[in-house]
Amino acid sequence: MKIGIIADLHIDRTKTEYTIEDFKRVLACEMLARNLDLLLIAGDISNDCQVTSEFVWSLMTATNIDVRFVPGNHDYWQPENMTSSQVYQFYKDHPQSLVESPLVLNDDWAIVGHSGWYDYSYADPRFPLEKLASGKFYGGTWQDKVRIDWPVGDSELSRTFAKTVQKDLETVKGLNTILMTHVVTHHKFVVPTPHRLFDFYNAYIGTSDFDSFYKDYPIRYSIMGHVHFRHRLEADGIQYVCPCLGYQREWRTNDLATEVRNTLEVIEI
Ligand SMILES: [Fe+2]
Repeated sequence: MKIGIIADLHIDRTKTEYTIEDFKRVLACEMLARNLDLLLIAGDISNDCQVTSEFVWSLMTATNIDVRFVPGNHDYWQPENMTSSQVYQFYKDHPQSLVESPLVLNDDWAIVGHSGWYDYSYADPRFPLEKLASGKFYGGTWQDKVRIDWPVGDSELSRTFAKTVQKDLETVKGLNTILMTHVVTHHKFVVPTPHRLFDFYNAYIGTSDFDSFYKDYPIRYSIMGHVHFRHRLEADGIQYVCPCLGYQREWRTNDLATEVRNTLEVIEI
């Protein structure tokens, strides 16, 4: 079985020359060329849950290939008529979303997926909790603080989401597991420090609440996004993969097809 993985498509950025239709056409073309059986998207498809949902369905229609995803922080950015809790429920109910819906692939493999959330544990310890909770640094504001209104704080949300993931891991216990999150779950994927901004903003990159899962469950692959790196590392027999397309200004070329080809990785199980 060939499983394609990619993250952080950001199909609705205004500062890009490509349309949502271009993203669909290019990604569909690559999925077919690689002969995929399944595509996994590790979040940040767009800034709107309806756009994200429509994109997933349109990819499936164009390719006849199954697509599963977890929402990223951008996918939770709130439309005018919905609360953040309603957006969460929208993804929980979505047939292609892995949120609270582990997927058993066969007798040997399963996929568990969730956005996860950041818990501030990757921030430089010189920043007090109130400062991190404000999201404000050097005249800028971490935009989730403006665009999302969770009923609880970030650290508590991270713990709540981690508990949900643990429940799903228990459900598929005994099967080799592909874990997919949006936020980073391994310290080696944070932005290297010292860094003028990311000493602070690393607070919003990852969580430590998943650490014990790698010891307690047979996780073989851990896929994540969010940090806009393209990187893979192996530790303790687990493949950690961060296949982020990222923003056009972060690409090495200006060609969407080249960037998608270079970003999309394939897991064969
Ligand atoms: Fe992103």
